[in-house]
Amino acid sequence: MKHLLSLEAASADEIEALLISAEELKFKRWANDLSDDDLKDQCWALMFSKSSTRTRVSFEVGIRELGGSVMFLSSNQSQLGRGEPIKDTARVMGRMVHGAVIRTFAQDDVEQFAEFSGIPTINALTDEEHPCQILADLLTMKEKLGGWEDRKVVFFGDGDCNVAKSWMWAAERMGFQLVVAAPEAFLPPQDYQQQFSAGGKVSFTSDAAAAAAHADVLYTDVWVSMGKEDESEDRLDVFKPYQINDAIVTAACSSALVMHCLPAYREKEITEKVLEAHADTIFQQAENRLHAQKAVLKAVVAG
Ligand code: CP
Ligand code: NVA
Repeated sequence: MKHLLSLEAASADEIEALLISAEELKFKRWANDLSDDDLKDQCWALMFSKSSTRTRVSFEVGIRELGGSVMFLSSNQSQLGRGEPIKDTARVMGRMVHGAVIRTFAQDDVEQFAEFSGIPTINALTDEEHPCQILADLLTMKEKLGGWEDRKVVFFGDGDCNVAKSWMWAAERMGFQLVVAAPEAFLPPQDYQQQFSAGGKVSFTSDAAAAAAHADVLYTDVWVSMGKEDESEDRLDVFKPYQINDAIVTAACSSALVMHCLPAYREKEITEKVLEAHADTIFQQAENRLHAQKAVLKAVVAG
C-alpha cells in the first residue's frame, strides 16, 4: 500500500490487514515494546490547513515511536498559504522528506500531492474523507463488539460530511449495515445515495428515531465541520432532531455502543449525559487513532 488517500481506494483485505497490524502494535505498546522502527532515519511532514488535536498528536507520537522524526507545517507557515500550487509544493517536499500526512479541504489536493511528490501520502482529513478516523473506529468495534459482521451502525448528523462518507465506504467494503440519518438537505447527493443503496449495505433516512431501532452502534460527529462555520446558525437548528440523547439510546439495542470521533459539542450533537456514560468507548476510539495510524505508517513505508 503506497498511500492512504481514502477508504474508497482501500480494499477489504487492506483494511483487515491494517486492523490486525494495529492490534499487534497496541498490544506491544502496552507491553512497553516499541521495537518497531520502520521509519528509522526518515523525516515525515505533517501539513495541516485545518485545526487538529487527536490527528496531529497521534501522528507525531506514532512517527516518533516508529523511529522517525517529524515536522509540522501549518498552511499559514508555508507558501501554500500564499497560493503556491500543491503540485510545486509536492515536488519540493518529495525531494526532502520521506512521507507526508495532509489535512486539508479538497480531496484532489491530497491526490495531487501523492502523484507529484512520489512519497507515501496519508489523508489526515479532507472535506471528502477521514479514513484514519474510521480505521480507529473499526478497531474499537472489533475490540468492543468482536467485529462488524451482522452489525448495524447508525450515523446521525451531517450525512454529507467526511466522516459519514468514510463510514459509507467502510460499510460497503466490510459488509456491515450502515444507516445515515440526516436532514434531507444534508444527505449526500442523489447519485451518491443511489450508488451506495445499490450495494444493499448503506441506506439513508431523515427519521432519526426509526434509524436507531436495533442499532449496535450510534455514531455522531460535529454538526458544523471545519470550513462550514458560516452555516453554523442554520445547521444548529435543522440538526436538533439528530442529537444522540437518552431517547435515541433507548431506541437502540440495550448494549449499543455510542461513538463520537471528537471534538464533541455537548447538548448539540450529543448530550453531556450520554457522552459521559459512553466516555470509555469514545476515548478508546481516540486512543486507537495512534495504533491504527502506526499500522498505516508501517504499511505505506513497506509500499
Ligand atoms: N477526530 C479528529 O480527527 O480529531 P482532531 O480534529 O482533533 O484531529
Ligand atoms: N467532520 C468534522 C470531523 C472533525 C474530526 C470536520 O471536518 O470538522
